[in-house]
Amino acid sequence: MDHIVNARLRGRDGLFTVRWADGAFSTIDPQAAPVPPPMPDSAALDALGKLVVPPLVEPHIHLDATLTAGEPHWNLSGTLFEGIECWTERKALVTREDTKSRAHRAIRMLAAHGVQHVRTHVDVTEPGLGTLQAMLEVREEARALADLQIVAFPQEGIESFANGCALMTEAVAMGADVVGGIPHFENTREQGVSSLHFLMDLAERHDRLVDVHCDETDDPQSRFLEVLAEITRVKGLGPRVTASHTTAMGSYDNAYCSKLFRLLKQAALNFVSCPTESIHLQGRFDTYPKRRGLTRVPELDRAGLNVCFAQDSIVDPWYPLGNGNILRVLDAGLHICHMLGYEDLQRALDFVTDHSARAMNLGEGYGIEVGRPANLVLLSAESDYEVLRTQAHAELSIVSAPRTPSLRSPS
Ligand code: FE2
Repeated sequence: MDHIVNARLRGRDGLFTVRWADGAFSTIDPQAAPVPPPMPDSAALDALGKLVVPPLVEPHIHLDATLTAGEPHWNLSGTLFEGIECWTERKALVTREDTKSRAHRAIRMLAAHGVQHVRTHVDVTEPGLGTLQAMLEVREEARALADLQIVAFPQEGIESFANGCALMTEAVAMGADVVGGIPHFENTREQGVSSLHFLMDLAERHDRLVDVHCDETDDPQSRFLEVLAEITRVKGLGPRVTASHTTAMGSYDNAYCSKLFRLLKQAALNFVSCPTESIHLQGRFDTYPKRRGLTRVPELDRAGLNVCFAQDSIVDPWYPLGNGNILRVLDAGLHICHMLGYEDLQRALDFVTDHSARAMNLGEGYGIEVGRPANLVLLSAESDYEVLRTQAHAELSIVSAPRTPSLRSPS
């Protein structure tokens, strides 16, 4: 196959014929009328008027922990912190083959739902960094299905964990693409702030992207986002930095948020919200009324900041469900965030395609434009609105652009 006829494209009226050659889109031509069946040649696919989009994106998941829920026991409280305790016990049982086989299974689930770009956080609070090594191997082995970015993620802290700084430095040297952090989990406020300075310097020194688990709590006093944003502003690294979760923002008062948003716009960093995960994990210390425990997605979006949705987990100590379908997360996220207005529905897929690609810095490696990699997904509905309304699915996911080996080879 080298072209699709009768395709609808987001943001453009009418039907299109999309062609590609040598792994890149070669022509995108409007059709005066539908091409009737049968197709003139077998190299054509008939989209039947349905939507053809660039690959779906998963910008925040933990593939090293996936498919471990209940091992060795279930997270009974449903809190983030019991999840970390469960994972600490499960981590003691992890082997290289265990990590790799679970990660490959999860990647196949994601690929089956049209996801071709994945940013996975990998726990590096582990002497020896065997899990990271296993995931670096998965990054290369899974290349035909997915383009993986690996985040060096200090699950148990940088300052609060023995040799945390050295492990982060080693993880980057081994080939991690992105530098992570978890300032709200450090033992003290001072350690949280110090960890942010450390990780931003590390990323800048080694030319890496940044993605920090930031303020993933209902505690309105958890205010590490302002620190991350200010360092980002001073360094001028906005598009290369992502703040994940920022759920405490859902508990900040409006006066503080008004000031905070001024800084966020100056910093111009990216945001990832994980709505199914956060609605499950947060609000656990409330009676009623219960907070939703999500960041301010519509307000960030209306302020012109880049915000997208992610799954975070598939069947792990933090979240017992999930099947790789990012459209399910989009559906939940728009409900939870009060984003079912007509205008939001017209552009719903932004939050799992273009915005996510921007957070991952995919640049010209993404999108249905002539000259860009010819990777695409055919959805089972004709518009963003209908994708949501009919709970559409990916009918076909095409990877025709050869993926080059990772830029981040071990140094
Ligand atoms: Fe996460």
